[in-house]
Amino acid sequence: MQIKILAFCGSSRRDSLNQKLLDTAVLGALDAGAQVSNIRLLDFPLPIYDGDWETEHGLPERARALKAVIAEHHALLIATPEHNGGYTALLKNTLDWASRPIESDPTGLEVFAGKVAAMVSASPGVLGGMRAQIALQISMNKLGLLVIPNAFALGLAHQAFDEKWLLKDANAEKSVRGLGAALVTTASTLAPKSNHSECGTYPDEAVPLGSSSLANLKSESGRLHP
Ligand SMILES: Cc1cc2nc3c(=O)[nH]c(=O)nc-3n(C[C@H](O)[C@H](O)[C@H](O)COP(=O)(O)O)c2cc1C
Repeated sequence: MQIKILAFCGSSRRDSLNQKLLDTAVLGALDAGAQVSNIRLLDFPLPIYDGDWETEHGLPERARALKAVIAEHHALLIATPEHNGGYTALLKNTLDWASRPIESDPTGLEVFAGKVAAMVSASPGVLGGMRAQIALQISMNKLGLLVIPNAFALGLAHQAFDEKWLLKDANAEKSVRGLGAALVTTASTLAPKSNHSECGTYPDEAVPLGSSSLANLKSESGRLHP
């Protein structure tokens, strides 16, 4: 079975250092034989979570779409900047909406259950966003995700990439690609045993965007690897 990995970044910035690092990990996952959907959260514009709004309107269509996309994958590969010692509001808001219940996911968390995740972070600071990873790991464990131990925090990240968005340090490149590969290996081990071996689907809500929930996500933002 080919492992499907969903990759996304907690920064929507055009020249995001975290997106560059994520793209390196994605290369490792691809080399390990996975299929990777490297989406942009800009393509899922969501309001800041508000309980009254949800009671009145239900889940936003984009949140339903996001849940459907997550359901189609075995594992998550996430990059996050550190904002004031935590992970970003964009990423938090995305995970919060994705964890809300819908008809086919009454707990809201079934979409995450039994799946594997890996994280990377990058920062111009020396710690490379490590504090954000601690906060993110707590959230991901709460969601029911198994986070592999191969995390990578890239310090001084503003000096770390060349003009082609490749890491200048060969050892760092090897580690980050290795992280992507390790995610595939762990997901391969666990996927047949999990309830999501077929990457759970959402028959009622799965396709709000068209014939495939990923079909319309070909970056409206146009922010792709150069
Ligand atoms: C509101 C805000 C808070 C930040 N807080 C931290 C921080 O706590 N630690 C850190 O290393 N960098 C911090 N930074 C700097 C970010 O790491 C830096 O802007 C980084 O490049 C953002 O990631 P990106 O390049 O992927 O967009 C902060 C930046 C902003 C805008």
